[in-house]
Amino acid sequence: MSRFNTLKGVQDICPPDVLIWQEIERTAREVFHVYGFGEIKIPIIEYTDLFVRSIGGDTDIVEKEMYTFTDRGGRSITLRPEGTASVVRCYVENHMHNLPSPQKFYYSGPMFRYERPQKGRFRQFYQIGAEAFASESPRCDAEMLSMVNNILLRLSIGNLRLEINSIGCKVCRPRYREALVSYFSEKEDNLCTDCKTRLRSNPLRLLDCKIETCVPLKADAPLIPDYLCDGCKSHHERLKELLAACNVNFYENPLIVRGLDYYTKTTFEVTTEHLGAQKAVAAGGRYDYLVKEFGGPATAAIGFAMGMERLAALMSENPPKDSAALPIYFAPLGQRAETITLSLSEKLRAGGLGVEPGDGATLLKSHMKKADKLNAAFVVIVGDEELDKGYGTWRRLSDGTQGEIALDCPDVVDNFLRLARCPEEPVR
Ligand code: HAM
Repeated sequence: MSRFNTLKGVQDICPPDVLIWQEIERTAREVFHVYGFGEIKIPIIEYTDLFVRSIGGDTDIVEKEMYTFTDRGGRSITLRPEGTASVVRCYVENHMHNLPSPQKFYYSGPMFRYERPQKGRFRQFYQIGAEAFASESPRCDAEMLSMVNNILLRLSIGNLRLEINSIGCKVCRPRYREALVSYFSEKEDNLCTDCKTRLRSNPLRLLDCKIETCVPLKADAPLIPDYLCDGCKSHHERLKELLAACNVNFYENPLIVRGLDYYTKTTFEVTTEHLGAQKAVAAGGRYDYLVKEFGGPATAAIGFAMGMERLAALMSENPPKDSAALPIYFAPLGQRAETITLSLSEKLRAGGLGVEPGDGATLLKSHMKKADKLNAAFVVIVGDEELDKGYGTWRRLSDGTQGEIALDCPDVVDNFLRLARCPEEPVR
């Protein structure tokens, strides 16, 4: 029995599962690049205040879920629960508003939230996200949503549902907030303890509550679309037109208010019915005030993040093939062959070929078994007889075809590459 285990809600991602993760990252990168997003690396630790000020002091994340500690210098530090706050800090701190607009970034990495672990919900989880510091135009929202849609399409994850909403701006949200408070105040006695607090601190979050007794109380709650100002209304209408023009299917859901405070206007979630209670695979929205709140000039922005564990779980039924199958396994028979095959392996690896050199003390039968287990395409057997002739005997494991290949000639790397890539051509 192992003496050590991972923490609750934390997991290792081992082969072959990691292939799915690599596929998600590769696909997302390709899509990000065609949309003009460049990679940004943000820290895993930040001052706690960064998250309190952006995500909001009255949110579940800040109130209950942050991994916060005091460092040796007495500062309050937090393991990042999300990436947006750090990207905005980085944008402002590095005066990126002086660079040509739009500035578009993507990031990936672990996030930390002390939530109750369950299927699809972890305490350390990975996000891939993107943030665009662009303009207030609904065109940016449509492009962001189309980009999310394209990543998911390319990953061939079916049965996803994109839901959008607008949660208004500084002009219209206070009116909506008032209407909500007055509606729920009449029902206060029946609200859960958290919702009673939310009623004063963050009434929009009442719409998010999943507690059984609270759900029916929302039935006749006022809905934000009825309270949007003209600017927010026309933004939302134009977004819908543009999404249709980009062939992005969507549903409107006036209850998408999101658990973070920085959003304005457009909010969205991509959900699935295949992961139990943890339905959201990606989510995001516009946050037009955050750059200014962090000390930068007023700059409109929008972003999203998707949960890698949830995407990987949806893809696990059709895992990608292991394209990293081992091209060449060397089977040296004896120490002299071991020296030569090891030195040749280094040359081939430098030439970009995947090689596993076996041990000189191993018998041929065991070499063959090992090569099979390693999923090698070719075994190259090198015994004394082969060494004397300067050739190795290659054998293709899929069909047993055999041939010879020179071990010491000026074209040795090219010959091996040709063997691995075009095995039908004669190699000598
Ligand atoms: P979020 O909705 O908190 O938004 O998280 C985005 C996605 O991360 C979720 O839809 C889900 O797939 C995944 N996720 C969140 N918490 C967990 C967890 N405990 N375990 C597994 N997966 C999880 C944000 O984080 C915003 N920063 C998104 C954004 C970017 N908005 C604007 N820009």
